[in-house]
Amino acid sequence: MDGRAHVVDAYCPHLGANLAVGGRVVGDCIECPFHGWQFRGEDGKCTTIPYTDKVPDFAQIKTWPSCEVNGMILVWYHCDGGAPEWAVPEQAEITSKEWVYRGYTEHFVSAHIQEIPENAADFAHLTFLHGPVFMSGTDLRYTRSKLWDSVKHCWKAEWQPEPEPNKHCSQMVVQHSLTVFGKHFSFLDFFVRARQVGPGLVFLTFEHAFLGRGVILQSVTPVEPLLQHVVHRIYYQRAMPAAIPKFILNVECIQFERDIMIWNNKQYLSKPLLVKEDSTIQRHRRWFAQFYSKNSTRFTRQKDGLDW
Ligand code: FES
Ligand SMILES: [Fe+2]
Repeated sequence: MDGRAHVVDAYCPHLGANLAVGGRVVGDCIECPFHGWQFRGEDGKCTTIPYTDKVPDFAQIKTWPSCEVNGMILVWYHCDGGAPEWAVPEQAEITSKEWVYRGYTEHFVSAHIQEIPENAADFAHLTFLHGPVFMSGTDLRYTRSKLWDSVKHCWKAEWQPEPEPNKHCSQMVVQHSLTVFGKHFSFLDFFVRARQVGPGLVFLTFEHAFLGRGVILQSVTPVEPLLQHVVHRIYYQRAMPAAIPKFILNVECIQFERDIMIWNNKQYLSKPLLVKEDSTIQRHRRWFAQFYSKNSTRFTRQKDGLDW
């Protein structure tokens, strides 16, 4: 009613019905589909029980800290119940409608959430995994085929954590170019900045000499242990034909699906065998460690033996 989004627990504290299935918003409350109890979005207080005059004080549903920004509704989760420690930055061009929404992709990835951001600090995989031209597809058994050998993506990347007060952020800066028979083909020279904000959000901003500017917003949401729901949404300069951002999103999707084939099948190594050129991976792990606390869930089952 007041136009603000609120987030409450899915299950009704009365008898456990799922409010997301058949529940409806009535005024500033959500009404449970089972017995019609109504809970206020702002603080979770039960305001109405249709068959009693006296609503007990303790009738309440849990509310979650949330915000609405860049066309997303985001929920803060802390395993110890801690309050939000940072705000999600607003992309001014989205709010001002200078950049408009041009589509999304959606994937489920069987991996730990940490594997996905760690990609930004793994420079060696850029050339090897993402080097073969996008036309060679997503199936890693065929991407390195001779057919496409003459066209390559080249990536020059750097990764840095940000200083206080943004230590929950890090940035990967990438210069992307395309070579055909080893010759630089400047049409696809892109400058990409991937700004990681917290463990689950990335702002991938693009700049191209004449194809314009835009952003892909990547969100990674854990939906169950070791299963991530990943969404990429692209916003691009309104004046540019929609085909341009759709092409960019498509190429990004192909490259991302190559990573997925690795993630879906890999093992997490807490002590990887690294060479000096891989040192950014360790720096990234030290940076990412800030998102765990003493009570964070740990998976101890994965062992090297066969007794899983
Ligand atoms: S279970 Fe929600 S009102 Fe009864
Ligand atoms: Fe990757």
